[in-house]
Amino acid sequence: MADEKVMMGREPLIEHEKTKSIKQILLKSIAGVLLVGFACYLFLDSFTSLTPETEINSLPLEKAVNEQHPKKEVCDVSTGEWIPNPSGPIYTNATCNHIQNHQNCMKNGRPDTGYLYWRWKPSNCDLPPFDPVKFLNKMRDKSWVFIGDSIFRNHFQSLTCMLSKVEELVETYHDSAYRCQTLFSPNYNFTLAVIWAPYLVQYESIDSETLNIHLDILDSKWSSEYNKYDYVVISGGQWFYRSAIMYENNKAVGCHNCPYENLRELGVVEPYRKALQLTLNFMARAEHKPFVIFRTWTPDHFEYGKWYNGGICNRTEPFKEGEINGYPVDLVMRNTEVEEFGKAAAIGERNGVRMELLDTYHLSLLRPDGHPGPYRTYHPFDGDKKKKVQNDCLHWCLPGPIDTWNELLMKMVINGDDHDSISALS
Ligand SMILES: *[C@@H]1O[C@H](CO)[C@@H](O)[C@H](O)[C@H]1NC(C)=O
Ligand SMILES: *[C@@H]1O[C@H](CO)[C@@H](O)[C@H](O)[C@H]1NC(C)=O
Ligand SMILES: *[C@@H]1O[C@H](CO)[C@@H](O)[C@H](O)[C@H]1NC(C)=O
Repeated sequence: MADEKVMMGREPLIEHEKTKSIKQILLKSIAGVLLVGFACYLFLDSFTSLTPETEINSLPLEKAVNEQHPKKEVCDVSTGEWIPNPSGPIYTNATCNHIQNHQNCMKNGRPDTGYLYWRWKPSNCDLPPFDPVKFLNKMRDKSWVFIGDSIFRNHFQSLTCMLSKVEELVETYHDSAYRCQTLFSPNYNFTLAVIWAPYLVQYESIDSETLNIHLDILDSKWSSEYNKYDYVVISGGQWFYRSAIMYENNKAVGCHNCPYENLRELGVVEPYRKALQLTLNFMARAEHKPFVIFRTWTPDHFEYGKWYNGGICNRTEPFKEGEINGYPVDLVMRNTEVEEFGKAAAIGERNGVRMELLDTYHLSLLRPDGHPGPYRTYHPFDGDKKKKVQNDCLHWCLPGPIDTWNELLMKMVINGDDHDSISALS
């Protein structure tokens, strides 16, 4: 019975590899448990021993079928296709010194460059290229913060690289692990910060095995800084795959993946939903009313295995529409975000808080070629072409497809305010 559910629930990543995937699924369901754990990279630098395992049975999979499109905007940038872009990215590894080594695919020796020459074409309109001069002019005297996990640092660095075409931002703050960082543009009096808050809510690591998450307390790392910013970009999710004990009212209410505790298994969706409700409600009702942007779930592209058993991502071209479905578990997480965001945005609207959804899920799903793969480390195959190396099929190469997220941001916060560009697009 359980096996059946697993098989129905877990659609193969790639349609034309259905047979192979089903075989893999069968193997796993024999064991009775399906491991879902692409979040590893998010943890690698902070925890030593990890087994983010999720019983897919605990997820409400039927929701994945009814994918929702929440927006009533002029142009829905979340649907479209990747088309060739001969001019390539606006920066390179040589012009930007903010690229973290793990995402510096060019420097690390990635041999193919085709993945750099695509741009996102929304179905019913055009997405203008990122214009750093226009962006900085519009953002004079403004401050931005990105709140989330290491995917957000990836996004933040992409934005920094794009802006560095105009001005090198100077660092005014960083914590010891460079997880929280603030950059400043003296010429534009523009502040850009990133705050490490992978759960959005408070958590404590008790030891390398045990993590406590407080579903009813905001992570003060960001909430204490909230009033400083004019633009707040948030996202979350991947870390909820990690084993943890969940608390409300300082009492343990359940856990995820802790078979030896006498606690109810909560899965990943419900804890994530609670964390989102708390966070988004705070933002929708707060006295301080920045422009709030929620970025949706980010898909991984491991094939031939997962992150923990030799999975790789060696494709060199985008998928076309219809070639990939995505994992139901990803869709459930994204749909949970869309649902909770929609509820909070309605409250925000009544309170004069502008809240927008940056729906990067679909366009990112079509880019299996944009990840570092083995090139998360420097020249991984030097000396041994057959060497087994850990792949990263979750974060994105810089430059790379994640740069498009900033084009969407730009359209949302700048071009979106501009009546000429709206009528030109419609
Ligand atoms: C940029 O990447 C090229 C390979 O594409 C490499 O030769 C060069 O050293 C890199 N430069 C920097 C500054 O990382
Ligand atoms: C810089 O921007 C802040 C608002 O973020 C403002 O209070 C301050 O006066 C500005 N500084 C200058 C020199 O314009
Ligand atoms: C990707 O790797 C798989 C497994 O090693 C191999 O069969 C396939 O040909 C590779 N694809 C490309 C595009 O290199």
